[in-house]
Amino acid sequence: MNAAIARARAQAALTDLRPQPDDIAADAIAGLSRAPKTLPSKYFYDAEGSRLFEAITRQPEYYLTRVELALMEAQMPSIAQAIGDGVHVVEFGSGSGRKTELLLEGLAAPVAYTPIEISRTALMDSVTRLGQNFPDVQMLPVCADFTRPVPLPRAERRAHRTLVFFPGSTLGNFSDDEAVRLLRSMRGTMGDAGCALIGIDLDKDPAIIEAAYNDAAGVTAAFTVNLLTRLNREIDSDFDTDGFRHRALYARDRMRIETSLVSERAQSVRIGDHAFDFAAGEAMHVEISQKYTDASFSALAAQAGLRVTHGWNDDGDSFGLRLLQPA
Ligand code: TRP
Repeated sequence: MNAAIARARAQAALTDLRPQPDDIAADAIAGLSRAPKTLPSKYFYDAEGSRLFEAITRQPEYYLTRVELALMEAQMPSIAQAIGDGVHVVEFGSGSGRKTELLLEGLAAPVAYTPIEISRTALMDSVTRLGQNFPDVQMLPVCADFTRPVPLPRAERRAHRTLVFFPGSTLGNFSDDEAVRLLRSMRGTMGDAGCALIGIDLDKDPAIIEAAYNDAAGVTAAFTVNLLTRLNREIDSDFDTDGFRHRALYARDRMRIETSLVSERAQSVRIGDHAFDFAAGEAMHVEISQKYTDASFSALAAQAGLRVTHGWNDDGDSFGLRLLQPA
């Protein structure tokens, strides 16, 4: 199918739930008013942030994407068998194209594909491209905030079950409470007969994990600091982008990477008519990346009424895919 036809079809099939536009300034002011200070990580992904994230996934230290892709390539027949045929695939976020392609290629006769994505451009680009490669899979994009319940569009051909796909250990970027809420909402979307395939980064040698978030080329540091550049451009703020330094530490007791921007000196930052004072060395929290054991992930799933029915790890038990269904 050519791109123009694929785009026209995708446009016609779009369900637009008109997600609330972000109030970046209000979110930044609220975060900086807390102790410790925080900045909302959902604003990492402007055009430059998305480009930098792609570059992170190619860094030698950042094993997550590489291992997850290799795991899908190696285990897709077994994953497809566990899921069954004729599914409606629902992806939370419009994701990296390659993982979705491997899934749609490897599943037996998938009926439809619904990415749920807040950015209309990212959403339409993803279904236009996939629509060309998978003419037999009905593209049913939904523009919405996936952290809230989303009613699914119905596929023309009736699906045997719904499969929710959430790769990349993105679940780990949510706090435990938020992750449980998100899993519950997946539980609602998949229905009683459905299932979810979730990518999780596994607990391991802290040196390996920390290196993944502190690549030698400094791409992750540039990605983190780009958040400040974006704020300065889009809201009335005056962060000194040279005055904050990227820091990512593995908190072993909580099994998570905590990424911060650390103030290099005592300084004051203005947003609109608010002023925020930073002490020298004061950390502003920007992201968490939770790592899991089998026990911790099953416990999280259980809190959302889900149980793990199948699991696949790479040979080094570095990264895992888990198949969940209602408990
Ligand atoms: N989902 C990715 C992760 O947790 C996002 C990410 C990668 C990230 N590197 C980062 C987020 C650095 C903040 C800072 O691994």
